[in-house]
Amino acid sequence: MTTRSATPETGPETRVVDVVIENGHALVTIDNPPVNALSVSVRRGLMDALEQVNAANCISAAIVCAGRTFVAGGDISEFSGPPPLPHLPDVLDAIEASQTPFIAVMHGTVLGGGLELALACAWRIADAKTGFGLPEVNLGLIPGAGATQRLPRVIGLERAARMAANGKPVSARTFEEFGGLDHVFSGDPMSALAAFRDPLPARPVNTSERPVTDADLTALKAEITKSAKGSDAPMIALETTALAATLPFAEGSRIERRTHLDLRDSAQSRALRRLFFASRSVTRPARLKALEPAPINHVAIVGGGLMGAGIAAASLAAGHRVTLLERDSQSAEAGAARVEAIIAGDLASGRISDDKAQARRAAFSAGADYAAASDADIAIEAVFEDPEVKRAVFSQLAEVMSETALIATNTSYLDPNMISEGMPGPGRFLGLHFFSPANIMKLVEVVGTSVTTDQTMATAFAFARGLAKIPVETGVCDGFIGNRILSAYRRQADYMVADGASPYDVDAAMRGLGMPMGPYELQDLTGLQISWANRKRQLAAGTWPGRYVDIADTLCEMGRQGRGSPAKKGWYNHTEVAGARDPEVEALVADWRDEHGSARQAFTADEIVIRIMAAIVNEANLILEEGIATSDTAIDIVWTEGYGFPKHLGGPMFWAEETGMERMRAAFAAIEAQSPGSWKAAGVFRD
Ligand code: NAI
Repeated sequence: MTTRSATPETGPETRVVDVVIENGHALVTIDNPPVNALSVSVRRGLMDALEQVNAANCISAAIVCAGRTFVAGGDISEFSGPPPLPHLPDVLDAIEASQTPFIAVMHGTVLGGGLELALACAWRIADAKTGFGLPEVNLGLIPGAGATQRLPRVIGLERAARMAANGKPVSARTFEEFGGLDHVFSGDPMSALAAFRDPLPARPVNTSERPVTDADLTALKAEITKSAKGSDAPMIALETTALAATLPFAEGSRIERRTHLDLRDSAQSRALRRLFFASRSVTRPARLKALEPAPINHVAIVGGGLMGAGIAAASLAAGHRVTLLERDSQSAEAGAARVEAIIAGDLASGRISDDKAQARRAAFSAGADYAAASDADIAIEAVFEDPEVKRAVFSQLAEVMSETALIATNTSYLDPNMISEGMPGPGRFLGLHFFSPANIMKLVEVVGTSVTTDQTMATAFAFARGLAKIPVETGVCDGFIGNRILSAYRRQADYMVADGASPYDVDAAMRGLGMPMGPYELQDLTGLQISWANRKRQLAAGTWPGRYVDIADTLCEMGRQGRGSPAKKGWYNHTEVAGARDPEVEALVADWRDEHGSARQAFTADEIVIRIMAAIVNEANLILEEGIATSDTAIDIVWTEGYGFPKHLGGPMFWAEETGMERMRAAFAAIEAQSPGSWKAAGVFRD
């Protein structure tokens, strides 16, 4: 006997849960693209499926599976309002209590609600390539349908607490070793299922009824406090999981659900969810959606230094053929060695297999002859930050490449209009500003010139997304979105150092906010000479905005150009241990203040933070007013992905809204009074 029914989502055409009963079992298939999220329609469909399964006699088990991937989570778009009925915990309790036992047959990614569904089933079998995880903490949440209480009953308290708190997925093999799976297969799921059911093992005790052994979580708590960097959800997830050892399942689950719902309204979760949605929309500009991106196979990179090697490695990882061009064969060898070091590092750390490393090596070549770029679909130059050198490279590329191929500059500050001016096929030139290290950092600023075509932009966005990057469109200005805001940040930091704050206190205050490092530590890491050259350029062009503090220039002149400089000194002394405070710098700063008769003020950590944030938010608003950025979320993505601004604080624009614009206005007034004439006020800060 075969019966079939389906639950419609929006109309009779759309099936989200399909039930087929035949040969003594029920096959319940979830089909809710793209990731089979547990939306209300799926929850309803599962309830209907349960009813049918239990109404049919003569079936031994119900199999729950899904299309492209097993369920990869809850439906985040439902998280902003009250959850519609039926609620997931009730659906899962009913599946667990079902008279007919359920078998979860899994592949793809089993995340969040998907794992909770699997845990409510009597048995779990999975393809060897499946990943299992509880990523809720990445959105400032904890699981809300029993995972923190069922998982410890299956894999033990410590492992469950770790999975709930760190949000990282584990492989099927690991999850099997933990005791989370009854069987792992490779190949056809239905034959694996048939083998598993022949004969069907005795039904195990329901997960929720199993005992939990207590465990000492002290070390894990310390680890999570450190890795959470101010985000609340990881520790809440850990502590909620720990309740499983002391509370009955029903009580623990009730607390978990309430905590999950409360966290949906928290500022941190709102911030993280906003960034999650924004990173999807910002990377797919609406006006480019109708355009078909040109295929990219062959990528040429000119300049095999720090950035060029990183971009080459990212392109190889995405499966492209890559040609690296340098000034001469010796420099080409050096560039190739940098690329090889990245591949070897990925291999040594287990990030890639031997086969993958070999494939990347085979797809790579380096040399000094531009003819090798003649059939490239895109070229990216990452040579010295010198307009003449860059123009020469662009014109050589334009000569050998097809007029439909893209030519991009990775410049940090120069105007791509100027670099490409007068060259043939002007619509194909643009800026693609990667961040260092380019094989790791996800942000790419995409900079159109005044004549870049939308077709070029569409291809560039698709190319960047294909590298697993987050492309953000930016207009042309000094430093584009990110570095222009960074300049304002540094200026205000320097003004406070000039007026009484120690650079070390400024760094500590910004770390206190959650930044990975303060502005002076960052300069020591990246080298003081880059911003020095940039300041000189702005001073020469007469574009430096307002008060100028030249303490960093003096450090550069003294040879203190950062951690990697021969002196191994910058704002800090790195000769003995990295990052030691240096009395020599403190004396230099004190002398500077005496010489300039600067007013000595004491700044608390909170004052340092809000004054720096006022400078950042003012610049960000100017950027919006000038149309350089398309939205406030684009700015927040640039700063969270490119500069380490804590994601749980949502980015500078979200932070300012949460802090309150009144307080931000007061802080902006304070920085204006501190350095008169140095700040052009954005509309939100004008009287
Ligand atoms: P780098 O000095 O490490 O590398 C530059 C490379 O270009 C050198 O290997 C040099 O031999 C090569 N080169 C110079 N002239 C050439 C020519 N005519 N033909 C072929 N190769 C040539 O510099 P880095 O740091 O990689 O920067 C490169 C570009 O990327 C610059 O425009 C910089 O502003 C930009 N950038 C740098 C970032 C950073 O953090 N270092 C971040 C984002 C952008």
